Amino acid sequence: MESSLAHSLSHLTLLAIEAALQAGDLLRHGFGTKFSVKSKEGKHNLVTEHDIKAEKQILDFLTSQVPDSQFLAEESGESQGKSSLVWIVDPLDGTVNFAHQIPVFSVSIALEKEGKLHTGVVYQPITHELFVAEKGKGATLNGEPISVTKTTELSQAILATGFPYDVHKNPHHCIEHFGDILREGIPIRRLGSAAIDLAYTAAGRLDGFFEVGLKPWDCAAGLLLLQEAKGHASTWDGSPFSYRKHTPILATNGHIHKPLSTLLTRKVS
Ligand code: IPD
Ligand code: CA
Ligand code: CA
Repeated sequence: MESSLAHSLSHLTLLAIEAALQAGDLLRHGFGTKFSVKSKEGKHNLVTEHDIKAEKQILDFLTSQVPDSQFLAEESGESQGKSSLVWIVDPLDGTVNFAHQIPVFSVSIALEKEGKLHTGVVYQPITHELFVAEKGKGATLNGEPISVTKTTELSQAILATGFPYDVHKNPHHCIEHFGDILREGIPIRRLGSAAIDLAYTAAGRLDGFFEVGLKPWDCAAGLLLLQEAKGHASTWDGSPFSYRKHTPILATNGHIHKPLSTLLTRKVS
């Protein structure tokens, strides 16, 4: 973090960065080694010993620095504390990739202060890429400012999506919409980490991303990155998106938002 933006970051954001870098080191060392993998609710919803270790390390560190913190964390759930600070933590976003030795995964940490997002940090340990946003202070990648693309035509866009673990049972899945976009000839990726999908949209690597059923820890940090990089997020029909409500997300550079929303809201028979 070399830029002047980095110097103006709050102490709390610097703590989130430190926690993400430490957890990233742990994951990088664990990546490609032998480790235990278990299934959670569905057989493909995996948890490795590194998800658990990384989460514990993040929570222990943040509690030691900010003792009254509250947490909303994927593996340990919700915990109560006296302060209005809630850390929203996904210690390993992209567990299926990690478990199969595919080096696309991230640590995602957001801080909610009095109910509003204050900090968003997404760290990709294998590429050593650190995406940071603080409310009102913009977004950076390894200290350099980032912003969304200027692509105005959906036909020129590159997109990403993801599928929830219960996609086979979920009536609101996005398979038909995925097909529609493919049939338009628009390139679309499934990277396997929603936090990376959002960070890449913020950084101008993707023009847009959509998915259904994300949890707060998948998308809170990435959402602030996108907003601070001048992107736009809504539900698929354009109404306000809330990272706490598990509603479908449409996240774009703003310019392609409407045509993509139209595609995603077409009636599927
Ligand atoms: C998953 C990833 C994936 C998305 C799933 C998430 P996890 O999180 O973000 O890209 O499609 O909906 O659950 O389980 O790897 O932390
Ligand atoms: Ca996740
Ligand atoms: Ca996870």
